[in-house]
Amino acid sequence: MKTRITELFGIKYPIIQGGMHYVGFAELASAVSGAGGLGIITGLTLKTPQDLDREIKRCKEMTDQPFGVNLTFLPTVTSPDYPGYIKAIIDNGVKIVETAGRNPEPYLPVLKDAGVKVIHKCTSVRHAVKAEKIGCDAVSVDGFECGGHPGEDDIPNMVLLPRAAEELTIPFVASGGMADARSLVAALALGADGINMGTRFIATREAPVHENVKKAIVNAGETDTRLVMRPLRNTERVLNNAAAKKLLEKEASLGSNLTFEDIMEEVVGVYPKVMQDGDMESGVWSCGMVAGLVHDIPTCKELLDRIVSEARQIIENRLTAML
Ligand SMILES: Cc1cc2nc3c(=O)[nH]c(=O)nc-3n(C[C@H](O)[C@H](O)[C@H](O)COP(=O)(O)O)c2cc1C
Repeated sequence: MKTRITELFGIKYPIIQGGMHYVGFAELASAVSGAGGLGIITGLTLKTPQDLDREIKRCKEMTDQPFGVNLTFLPTVTSPDYPGYIKAIIDNGVKIVETAGRNPEPYLPVLKDAGVKVIHKCTSVRHAVKAEKIGCDAVSVDGFECGGHPGEDDIPNMVLLPRAAEELTIPFVASGGMADARSLVAALALGADGINMGTRFIATREAPVHENVKKAIVNAGETDTRLVMRPLRNTERVLNNAAAKKLLEKEASLGSNLTFEDIMEEVVGVYPKVMQDGDMESGVWSCGMVAGLVHDIPTCKELLDRIVSEARQIIENRLTAML
């Protein structure tokens, strides 16, 4: 396939694996890139810039295809060593960075000087337009359906994507709710140049997470996610479980008095317990509504080949026959 995204990143298929905490290690990133998509290592899952340096080197040993690194700019008091992470990215010759969270503007000059292409992930048209204005090369537009942080505007992709197409000049990919060939064709029709998937890629053979996580996604339906932390304006879409129920009860009972300290038990230090130990009730973890469309655990190559060949069939047979 050829779109502005395949051209920009030098990849075969316009399919990106979004950064995912405790999921986006070298195993997954290299498998996605090796299968023709764009795999992404999640920078902040690696505790230090030295750890990221090692992870990038590991990924390079596993694939000779381009891959990227996600840098999530968190609203935390003590900032991670972003300059250190960026140095590890540049020193290792990684040419693609996915930014997310806060405005990446302070870090763009050093990335651009090193020839790094930046795709910024955001959840609103105004932030996408801002990303274009400050010099990002592409945008990942994350709809309300998405796993992780959908923002506070609650605009689903059916409206968000064509609105983004109306406003943007740079290429963008559709993110949130993308799972299969139908998603890809719909995203292209709505004006995107490709798709970004999170939840779907967790349920793949190569994703280095506990089998319980993959099974939980396959078993979940489209109504099984919940929005938590909305009162803190840090909304996260998570899979429903005992911890999500408890957290939502706290939100309801504490109302506007809720603070982060009240919910630490459900949200802090959860990812290694869920993703590595398979302890599914240890807290809340991001998951998209798209879990309802995930019915199997293929290899990344099987998944990507299937998406692209079925997309061709949809376009050539189903759609063309309607004309
Ligand atoms: C378990 C999980 C962890 C995630 N962690 C991050 C993260 O650390 N940084 C980030 O920018 N996005 C993160 N995301 C968001 C994904 O990169 C992607 O934007 C999102 O999953 C797309 O929606 P989908 O799940 O419907 O495909 C995470 C998503 C999931 C499911």
